[in-house]
Order: sequence, then C-alpha cells, then structure tokens
Amino acid sequence: MEWYCVDDADAAKELVEKENPVGIICAFTDTFRKLAAVVPHPDSFVIEIGFSYGECSKVILQALGESAESKFLGVDNSKDLLHEAKERCPHADFEVFNVLQCPLLLVNAMRRRNKELELIVFVDIGMTFCILCVCNAVADSAMWRGFDMGYC
Ligand SMILES: C[S@@+](CC[C@H](N)C(=O)[O-])C[C@H]1O[C@@H](n2cnc3c(N)ncnc32)[C@H](O)[C@@H]1O
Repeated sequence: MEWYCVDDADAAKELVEKENPVGIICAFTDTFRKLAAVVPHPDSFVIEIGFSYGECSKVILQALGESAESKFLGVDNSKDLLHEAKERCPHADFEVFNVLQCPLLLVNAMRRRNKELELIVFVDIGMTFCILCVCNAVADSAMWRGFDMGYC
C-alpha cells in the first residue's frame, strides 16, 4: 500500500483513481477538510484516522453516498471525542485506539472491510512527522502477521 502526503484536491482525486488501496495523509486539518469533500467516492471504503468531533466524518459520509455507513470506519485515540462524533454521525462505525501504539488493529480493520470497495486510508492526526510512524507501524504489523501489503 502506498502513502501520499497531498494537499491539492485534484492531485488527490487523481491518485485515488489510479491507486487501490491508497493512504492519503494531510499535514493540516484545513487541507483534510477540503479533501474530505472530494476524495471519497461511492465505490470506496474510507478509514478516517483522527475523526475528532466527527465533523469531517459527516462530510466523508456525504461523499460516500448511498449506504455510506457500511463504507466507513473512523479511528481516534481519544475516547472523550466519541460521544460528539456519534451525535453527528449516529450510524457510523467509530473505534477508539492509538494507531501508533496499536497498528495491528488498523491492519485488522483494513482486512475486515468489504474487498469490493477501494480502500482509502485518510489520515489527519495533527502531526505530520508521526505519519511516517503510522506507515512504518502498519507495514511492520502486516509483515509480522505475514500479510502481503497488497492484500491489506
Ligand atoms: C487535528 S485533529 C483531526 C481533525 C479532524 N480531521 C477534523 O477535521 O475535525 C487530530 C485528531 O487525531 C487524533 N489522534 C492523534 N494522535 C492519534 C493517534 N496516534 N491515533 C489515533 N488518533 C490520534 C486526536 O485525538 C485528534 O482527534
């Protein structure tokens, strides 16, 4: 799985059309919010890392269209945010864990998704330098379990 740090909406859309699965990392929340409206498409499964108060989750769900809730998983390490995210998106799936400390949970979530959909892992955890850790952690976990990353 390839990861990209992107801040341009057209470039991000193009990437998503070409790559599957794909990891899109945003350095800034403003960028993330801009891309959230255009990157997900109805044939994608989006894992949003850093759902926070669910504001962007709502935008992503709208972009996913019909049966959006079955094509979405939100992940955040803060349990305190879950309640508000659930209020905004009552039928969406949210999980609370730290992707840096528990990357295997992320790998498992990636494997559980509907494989007919194109996987987009969409990341905004606030610190770009951490992203390399996410990528490495996911790759290491995948290897440890003997998965082929292409399969994830
Ligand atoms: C900048 S906010 C995301 C804002 C959100 N994209 C929005 O548009 O409202 C970053 C979020 O990442 C979460 N976060 C930070 N480090 C994390 C980690 N290691 N694992 C999971 N979530 C993390 C924080 O709890 C926070 O909610």
